[in-house]
Amino acid sequence: MEAFYSWFVVAHLVGLVVFAISHGASAFMSFRVRNERDPVVVDALLKVGGIAVGPMYIGLLLLVVGGLGAAAGANLWGQPWIIASMVVLVVVLVVMWAVASPYYMGLRKALEERGPDGRPTMEPAALAVMLDTRRPEILALVGTVGLVLLVWLMVIKPG
Ligand code: HEM
Repeated sequence: MEAFYSWFVVAHLVGLVVFAISHGASAFMSFRVRNERDPVVVDALLKVGGIAVGPMYIGLLLLVVGGLGAAAGANLWGQPWIIASMVVLVVVLVVMWAVASPYYMGLRKALEERGPDGRPTMEPAALAVMLDTRRPEILALVGTVGLVLLVWLMVIKPG
């Protein structure tokens, strides 16, 4: 494992770059889509967010595998900052899966039904009710605090 330490760190950082580029698209989509009322535009914005999810998970996987490998290579298992990083990541993931995933899945489902012209048949008034949400702020707050905490733990290595 020690021989691969540097490669695990490279994978960890490449994962972070892929994750940040991909998830940035979802983050900006969440704020923009909330102000839209045209079902066609909302649908298009959600599609942009949708294509960013796959690469985001690839980045996340690289991040986690690289991080676990690097920790094993440098014999860091059990260090308080490693445990704390895992706890922070799990908390952010749980919040994302609870607050973001069901909501955006519901929005996509609601827009699935199409008229003969191929446009979503959903009533703009019903869509407006669904779009009136504070979720982007919650996700941005929890996700950004989590990311900053992770960077702090990685650089300062407290404990
Ligand atoms: C450590 C930081 C973060 C992690 C690990 C993370 C992880 C995730 C995961 C796993 C999902 C679920 C994707 C799915 O539906 O399968 C998600 C969704 C989402 N997250 Fe984050 N996230 C983070 C930070 C942020 C930030 C800062 C924002 C800013 C607003 C954000 C906004 C969103 C949005 C809008 C979605 C829904 C995407 C969609 O369904 O199109 N996340 N996140």
